[in-house]
Amino acid sequence: MSNKVVLVTGAARGLGAVIARRFHAAGYNVALGDVSFDAAATLAHQLSSDGETAVAIKLDVALKRDFENARDALLARRSTIDAIVNNAGASKVVPVMEITAEQFDQVIDVNLRSVLFGCQIFGQYFADRGVGRIVNIASLAGQNGGSATGAHYAAAKGGAITLTKVFARDLASRGVTVNAISPGPLDLPIVHESVPADRLKQLIAGIPVGKLGSADYIADVAVLLASAGAYFANGACWDVNGGLFMR
Ligand SMILES: NC(=O)c1ccc[n+]([C@@H]2O[C@H](COP(=O)([O-])OP(=O)(O)OC[C@H]3O[C@@H](n4cnc5c(N)ncnc54)[C@H](O)[C@@H]3O)[C@@H](O)[C@H]2O)c1
Repeated sequence: MSNKVVLVTGAARGLGAVIARRFHAAGYNVALGDVSFDAAATLAHQLSSDGETAVAIKLDVALKRDFENARDALLARRSTIDAIVNNAGASKVVPVMEITAEQFDQVIDVNLRSVLFGCQIFGQYFADRGVGRIVNIASLAGQNGGSATGAHYAAAKGGAITLTKVFARDLASRGVTVNAISPGPLDLPIVHESVPADRLKQLIAGIPVGKLGSADYIADVAVLLASAGAYFANGACWDVNGGLFMR
């Protein structure tokens, strides 16, 4: 068991919850940051009933000050923070010609500003400390333009992959690595909730491996990229898409 500390954003449900569980199982103290505080607190309680090794933090990733507050709240409890997983994301499918300015800004806020602020606030903290790991959850949509997710979402995720490279280059000499993971469609609640059953069947048939992806595996990759031994992986984008997109 380690004494390491990780902040996972969007950890109240879906992929973030799986990632939080995996880090916790790997011995990390886990902070679950989410706008859905109650759901994050419920999961934190499941992981650690006395709050010793898992804690929920109210965090809106569109707000820079929420990242600052999260950093400060964690440092008040623990002497160091070792890693952040910028996982929170959201989208609503709208045809590209119909996306309004408000919808565009909202999706960019949650999926891209979030990565900028997470990397700025925690990247600075890690750089000052001389060590740290940042893992950004991107998406296949950011690489191929997406299909069922919306142009604003795809553009934001493409931006997240680019920010990953920029921060990776900027922080590398100070012991900080920044990497992205780019999943294709995963076997997660949001996919089953947002894609009609017949469309989902079609979608799965179009995936070369013939299955939705495993959130557990994405979480394993995040834990691996956060490890000390991952110091040579920097500015990378780990594609996990069942063969939908190869480069
Ligand atoms: N599900 C997939 O197939 C898939 C594929 C590729 C990438 N991703 C990415 O994985 C990440 C997680 O997706 P998911 O499927 O678990 O989605 P989800 O909608 O099930 O969960 C998203 C979580 O983020 C939280 N969240 C939303 N807005 C927030 C904000 N402003 N501040 C803080 N938290 C906020 C939600 O409360 C929720 O707990 C996202 O970045 C998504 O783009 C998912």
